[in-house]
Amino acid sequence: MTSNDTAFARACQVIPGGVDSPVRAFGSVGGTPRFIDHAEGAYVYDVDDRQYLDLVGSWGPALLGHAHPQVVTAVRAAAGKGLSFGAPTEAEAELAELIQLRVPLAERVRLVSTGTEATMTAIRLARGATGRDLLVKFAGCYHGHSDGLLVAAGSGIATAGLPGSAGIPEPIAAQTVVVPYNDAEAITAVFAELGDRIAAVITEPAAANMGIVPPEPGFNALLRELTRAHGALLIYDEVLVGFRVSAAGWWGLEGRTISPDLFTFGKVVGGGMPLAALGGRADVMELLAPVGPVYQAGTLSGNPLATAAGIATLKLADAAVYERIDAASAALQGAVVDALNGAGVTHQLQTAGSLFSVFFNVDHPVRNFADAQTQNTAAYRAFFHSLLDSGIALPPSAFEAWFLSSAHDDRVLEQAVAALPAAARAAAQQG
Ligand SMILES: Cc1ncc(COP(=O)(O)O)c(C=O)c1O
Repeated sequence: MTSNDTAFARACQVIPGGVDSPVRAFGSVGGTPRFIDHAEGAYVYDVDDRQYLDLVGSWGPALLGHAHPQVVTAVRAAAGKGLSFGAPTEAEAELAELIQLRVPLAERVRLVSTGTEATMTAIRLARGATGRDLLVKFAGCYHGHSDGLLVAAGSGIATAGLPGSAGIPEPIAAQTVVVPYNDAEAITAVFAELGDRIAAVITEPAAANMGIVPPEPGFNALLRELTRAHGALLIYDEVLVGFRVSAAGWWGLEGRTISPDLFTFGKVVGGGMPLAALGGRADVMELLAPVGPVYQAGTLSGNPLATAAGIATLKLADAAVYERIDAASAALQGAVVDALNGAGVTHQLQTAGSLFSVFFNVDHPVRNFADAQTQNTAAYRAFFHSLLDSGIALPPSAFEAWFLSSAHDDRVLEQAVAALPAAARAAAQQG
């Protein structure tokens, strides 16, 4: 028995499934999740001191690679001054300003601790601002684990093949209208029927929790047009893509052409610490307590360590960082496609900026969740384990994006390029 097996067995005695977030389980790929001891740059190391080239990146935050020395130094310095004050700090305004500099539409910003809190608060704000109840979301998009958002959700819910979550009262689920992603006709019809009852549309402006499914041209613009025409708000949930796919997230990458009312950010903005944010139109954001009547609070909101990590990360994430990640992603994508073609594996590789994922045994573009569900997850499982045996850690789910960092240079990627042909052959055997 390895130390990893022992660690998992121990954890299972006290933690449901041995993990504190279901996406970390190996339920859909089989086997034992790796218990990580430490991480540095492009690598994570498990408790048996096995090294893995990491393509999970903590599910997004590790834009600069793990344990970037300057980020760690900033956190250490903050820790030396106290772990939490429950009172405002200057650093919170500094981080809010850095966010605003990148996304000027974030006229006001509130820092929270998780992406779930950010989306939950954005929705409450939209309901408070409009006096309406209904929320529109898209099937296969994931916006965190608050009640109304676990209907037809992506990420771990998709990985487990669940329609939603138990424990959500029917009247709450009934406030969420689910529409297929990229379906202009369906969303237009929903607004025609329910337009005066809809508080907001929340969208992943490029979907990344059902595998990568980019918006079709004009889709996000249509969302803006419909919400505006019907007096509803548009929420861009950039928790995953924000500050990752470009300095200004997906909103920047798509050309700053669309003006959502609210944004939610997470992952990169906290530099690996528990921090997320929402931002948007001043008149809407000023409805938040203590100024307005929409309540939101958090003992650890804007925590000084997390804020220090976020500031250091955003300051370090300059144009060169994004260029490096784009180049690494293009190189890895090319190697993946070559390997899969070489082994005769039909597949779709889809991208959203530097994020990408591969749908096995799919021969047409994946436009929505129903398309994503037609992929051959057994082929992914074989591919995943072949790479893991070669010391390369992909997300343990076919429905997740692959994450690169500025530490993934050519030398680092050589290991992946060398291991991909065997992984592709393993996938081919699953037909
Ligand atoms: C788009 C999106 N929104 C919200 C969340 C929830 O964030 P958190 O896990 O920090 O609660 C996630 C998490 O993966 C996400 O990808």
